[in-house]
Amino acid sequence: MNSNLLHVACIMDGNGRWAGKRGLPRTAGHTAGEESLADIVRAASKREVDYLTVFGFSTENWVRPRAEVRHILGLHKKLFGRIKELNENNVRINWIGRPFDEPGSRTPLYVQRAIRKAIDDTSKNTGMVLTVAFDYGSRSELTRAAVKLVTSDQELTPTNLQSWLYDASLPPVDVLVRTSGESRISNFLLWQIKSAKIYFTERPWPDFDDVDLDAAIALTKI
Ligand code: IPE
Ligand code: IPE
Ligand code: MG
Repeated sequence: MNSNLLHVACIMDGNGRWAGKRGLPRTAGHTAGEESLADIVRAASKREVDYLTVFGFSTENWVRPRAEVRHILGLHKKLFGRIKELNENNVRINWIGRPFDEPGSRTPLYVQRAIRKAIDDTSKNTGMVLTVAFDYGSRSELTRAAVKLVTSDQELTPTNLQSWLYDASLPPVDVLVRTSGESRISNFLLWQIKSAKIYFTERPWPDFDDVDLDAAIALTKI
């Protein structure tokens, strides 16, 4: 694994609060958050970022009100549908989460299709890899990896456990961003953030911009 690769991971938090401050419904905050992500993907792809991994929807988020969940699912379909933009920026899309064919997976079919299509249609791009974590939780990932490892003939070592992660090719995270003033990890990439710097900002995700991105990247140089 090449440790010269720059990997930025973002916990995109604060969409609801962003909307609340403006007297808007939470769903409007998620819509603004999706647009902010599109901007950040473009900005990151023009910088030295090799891997950008974003927390889109967690295994814990399914308990939210149905209308909000439905809205967020629709936004993921939209996000995975931005093929033209991704291709223009030479971005290869990737996904991590509970595998569709395994027990516990909750990703609906139409989102599965959008994910598969986006992966196929951007697979030839050679620039930044954008990994969207959807129906993702680190404990599910690590528990599954442990089960796979135990049922294989492999020795119990960190390297072998790592080989069973959802995407074993993801390099270690260099900087973990969390927006909106919370200083929590919320079950995101617990294995991969072993040596990561952490960039906490008060700004909610819809307001996160390239200046913040540069500040987060700068942390990796210290
Ligand atoms: C992050 O924003 C988006 C998701 C978790 C899907 P929130 O919806 O958590 O916004 P806050 O934290 O309530 O402001
Ligand atoms: C983390 O944000 C998950 C995503 C950004 C998708 P949450 O808002 O769900 O996390 P908690 O509940 O504050 O820990
Ligand atoms: Mg939140």
